[in-house]
Amino acid sequence: MSELESLEGRVIAVAGVGGGLGPLVARELGARGAAVAGSDRSEETLAALGAELGLGERWDGRAVDLLDEEAVRAWCAALVERFGRVDGVVHLVGGWRGGVPLHEEPPADWELLHDLLIRTVQNTTRAFHGQIDAAGARGRFVLVSAKQAQAPSNTNAAYAAAKAAAEAWTLAFADGFEPGGATANIIVVDAILTPRMRADNPDGDFATFTPAEELAAAIAFVCSEAAARMNGQRLPLTMR
Ligand SMILES: NC(=O)c1ccc[n+]([C@@H]2O[C@H](COP(=O)([O-])OP(=O)(O)OC[C@H]3O[C@@H](n4cnc5c(N)ncnc54)[C@H](OP(=O)(O)O)[C@@H]3O)[C@@H](O)[C@H]2O)c1
Repeated sequence: MSELESLEGRVIAVAGVGGGLGPLVARELGARGAAVAGSDRSEETLAALGAELGLGERWDGRAVDLLDEEAVRAWCAALVERFGRVDGVVHLVGGWRGGVPLHEEPPADWELLHDLLIRTVQNTTRAFHGQIDAAGARGRFVLVSAKQAQAPSNTNAAYAAAKAAAEAWTLAFADGFEPGGATANIIVVDAILTPRMRADNPDGDFATFTPAEELAAAIAFVCSEAAARMNGQRLPLTMR
């Protein structure tokens, strides 16, 4: 790892750290020297993850409802109190509904995906904007999106539309930063292959999936100084 890819001294918040991808991202960011502040719904998940990561004072885990904008603002304030600042936010809240034709998809699917995939992005960007902007060239926001956002299939209408909205919001957030300042970017995958999925189905065909380890490394790269010139971009980690 070059000095440009080190995250030594950076404070990076990971929203939705307890999911399929989050623990690998937290481990990768921590291995590169960052202080990692993870939020999720479950205190238990966060405590177990903190113990597993072994980052000591460089770990902060807090249960936060990311749908509650005031709670997200309070999370940001608590991190500023603890670390003095927050340089970046990696947004990892996900969820999926679909698999039926568009005209049969219940409106409740859209409501749920709107909450998970859009509102949590709005809440984190609004709450952390001041910190990310103040971090200047170290400031980062990273969204993980899906190929469906730009190539929607009929049976993924609500999911594709929600991810497309989250992408547009992230690109608008990026547009607010001055050249040489903070950045906001999107990493695109088709689907994520986690170590658990590999262990549960060793003979599975995951050819189009992006291994979670590779995605975590790409996120760490985007958070590093090596990616300081990259703003408002979609970085595809897909086979085609
Ligand atoms: N997995 C894929 O194949 C895939 C494909 C394309 C894009 N992506 C994107 O990649 C990112 C990471 O995916 P993932 O599969 O790791 O995500 P995930 O497991 O679905 O979600 C991450 C975490 O967010 C938590 N969360 C949900 N709502 C929350 C709330 N209101 N407040 C606090 N935490 C909340 C979840 O907790 P609960 O478990 O309690 O709900 C979960 O632990 C997501 O942005 C996802 O959309 C994933």
